[in-house]
Amino acid sequence: MMMSRSAMKLLSTATVRTIHGGGEFRQGFFALGARNLSSTVSAVREKPQTEPGSGSGSAAGHRSFEGGDKSVVSYWGVAPVKLTKEDGTEWKWSCFKPSETYKADVSIDLGKHHVPGVWTDKVAYWGVKMLRLPTDIFFKRRFEMRAMMLETVAAVPGMVGGMLLHCKSLRRFEHSGGWIRALLEEAENERMHLMTFMEVAKPRWYERALVFAVQGIFWNLYFVAYVISPKVAHRVVGYLEEEAVHSYNEFIKEIDSGNIPNVPAPAIAIDYWRLPPDSTLRDVVMVVRADEAHHRDVNHYASDIHYQGLQLKEFPAPLGYH
Ligand SMILES: [Fe+2]
Ligand SMILES: [Fe+2]
Repeated sequence: MMMSRSAMKLLSTATVRTIHGGGEFRQGFFALGARNLSSTVSAVREKPQTEPGSGSGSAAGHRSFEGGDKSVVSYWGVAPVKLTKEDGTEWKWSCFKPSETYKADVSIDLGKHHVPGVWTDKVAYWGVKMLRLPTDIFFKRRFEMRAMMLETVAAVPGMVGGMLLHCKSLRRFEHSGGWIRALLEEAENERMHLMTFMEVAKPRWYERALVFAVQGIFWNLYFVAYVISPKVAHRVVGYLEEEAVHSYNEFIKEIDSGNIPNVPAPAIAIDYWRLPPDSTLRDVVMVVRADEAHHRDVNHYASDIHYQGLQLKEFPAPLGYH
């Protein structure tokens, strides 16, 4: 028997209830507000609740999820997975899982440089060099802030490139060779750099405004550049990563000279890079710099593939290459 849409809606809202301070009321149109609320809570902890008179409750029944002093009520009850570290203690990060952690390969050659040959390489190279100028003027030798700013930009190309390759794969009914995932991994890795430096550098309001403006411009510019010429886009990122390695070299020099205190490593960095518990900021900058060198290689490699008239999908992407 068919049930009308309004009848279904009525039934749906009638089954949703919330409990506040022991009082109970039927939710009705508040269900919509509760669903919206559910998207605003980032770190949630499940707190199953049993509906009065319903016995032991059910998986599809009403559940409340708590995160700090916030709580969310959702009929759908998607329970977060409880994770533990290798030593059995609670995993406290909601933004990445233990399976995504790794030990950085710090033996990578940091001094490698792609010598610009053709004119497009030269445009990419000098374009990136010119971008360094305003950064030098704005941040001077505040390398923790430079790092934070750099990471807000560096996390964009992988996401844009991965998204465009994803759409291309759909349009053309073809495999990507793993490059979608490789570029998204790079974006995620860069974002984790940002999450780490957020712990040691607190941006001022005008620095936040700058990030906002730069992201708006850079995202769109990179999108257009990747659509027109992926080989130049990847080359630009290759040179950006070379500059990132240089910036982190300078960061380490500042720590070694005592201008930047070598504070204990943030807990998120210790877990993400599987660092020893007594690691310091210098150790963190070392592993981040190694990541940048890996990104440099991946992007120059991708650009080289295009320059030779080949397609990325023909060469397996370096997945998990950190
Ligand atoms: Fe980075
Ligand atoms: Fe990078």
